Amino acid sequence: MSRLVVVSNRVAVPDAQSATAGGLAVALRDALQSCGGVWFGWSGKTAAQTAETPSITEIGPVTYATLDLGRKDYNEYYNGFANRTLWPLFHYRLDLAEFSHENYAGYLRVNTLFAEKVRPLIGDDDHIWVHDYHMIPLGRELRALGIEHPMGFYLHTPFPAMEVLLALPSHALLVESLCAYDVVGFQTENDLRAFRDYIVHEANGEELDATTMRAYGRLVHTEVFPIGIERGQMEAAAERAVEQGAARRLERTLHNRSLMIGVDRLDYSKGIPDRFKSFERFLELYPAHRGQVSMMQIAPLSRSEVPEYKNIRDTLEGQAGYINGRYGDFDWMPLHYLTKNFQRETLAGFFRLSRVGVVTPLRDGMNLVAKEYVASQDPQYPGVLVLSRFAGAARELDTALLVNPYDHDAVAAALNQGLVMSLEERRERWQSMMAKVRENSLEHWRERFLKVLRAVPTPMALQSSR
Ligand code: F6P
Repeated sequence: MSRLVVVSNRVAVPDAQSATAGGLAVALRDALQSCGGVWFGWSGKTAAQTAETPSITEIGPVTYATLDLGRKDYNEYYNGFANRTLWPLFHYRLDLAEFSHENYAGYLRVNTLFAEKVRPLIGDDDHIWVHDYHMIPLGRELRALGIEHPMGFYLHTPFPAMEVLLALPSHALLVESLCAYDVVGFQTENDLRAFRDYIVHEANGEELDATTMRAYGRLVHTEVFPIGIERGQMEAAAERAVEQGAARRLERTLHNRSLMIGVDRLDYSKGIPDRFKSFERFLELYPAHRGQVSMMQIAPLSRSEVPEYKNIRDTLEGQAGYINGRYGDFDWMPLHYLTKNFQRETLAGFFRLSRVGVVTPLRDGMNLVAKEYVASQDPQYPGVLVLSRFAGAARELDTALLVNPYDHDAVAAALNQGLVMSLEERRERWQSMMAKVRENSLEHWRERFLKVLRAVPTPMALQSSR
């Protein structure tokens, strides 16, 4: 089997903390372990200047190659164009998107640099798999350096509707860059449809069949590959964790009250302020639950140097104080709001204890927390998932209580419904969701993508078939 070269913004180099690595990191590492190859990207560290040469760590058949970013590159590429332009735009937050030419130049500069630095690590027969919005131009840069290898790209975020994307001054180059890849994978049909719309209506391209598009003089295979979670891992973790310290302690503090839980990176796309408003409406509209149920929101800090992320933190602190001040009592706190980070296994135990999982992003590529909540449940006494219809996961988990997160009264009603739902209905809904979680596992996602990528004809094969 040919080697794989993975390029992504962050690289999960195994180290003493590797036990805490997320599912995606583990899945990509497993793929690299089995076929050998390279994982290239940012080290996660900043320095005065961007490093000239990558730091190399060889572990078995895998080479991890990472670059420290200089402050200017970090600010313009990561904090700037990736997280103040593309991230809000791809999540339909035009109101938060900033269009700075300096940041755009920094984004292109880092992509050019990454292409130059990874180029010498690519072997003749390698397949290349690039991940996420930080790295869209990378494939085009590699092609400019003469790389004709099969190259795939996977977008972990939503791909916005054409009308939204057109607001980006550099939309044309961005989409042309996507077409430098042989395979472009999306989370949902919506994202794929938005991409196709752009290709057909804006880029003068054409749809040749269900998966092939012709644009900018190239053929691109486009397909939906919904990402999943590791098969069996979360179920086993939840079974273990519920018996352990943190979950036991949490259970004791509940005093037989019900728990509702939300776990999200502290990001405005996750809809946490709207969730808090919905929770407030729930307390207002369903007073019988006062004193009987608490909500725990875990929101580890993320991208803290980006101003919009600082703002949302202030908003949430104000809301949490207001809700607890207004409704709380000396022996009951309605809302527990924590920005602390927990190990995934601990979270699995918390999920299993929670009667309702609240996953209400305003827009999300997939949202793996929704799948993790489902996988963590006790099959005999499963909890209920309240899920935003704007999360990619809603496509698969369609027996969750699907809600519009902007409609606070409707979310409040769903929270109530989750708490009063019969055990029979809870089981029915959960079994259907769990079947989908098992079927579309992370391993399945990875293997499906790699199968398509490995089927791309190499330039050699194309020449001999002419
Ligand atoms: O889901 C999108 C994503 O950018 C992932 O690529 C990343 O792992 C996650 O969000 C966390 O973001 P960051 O790397 O900016 O901390």
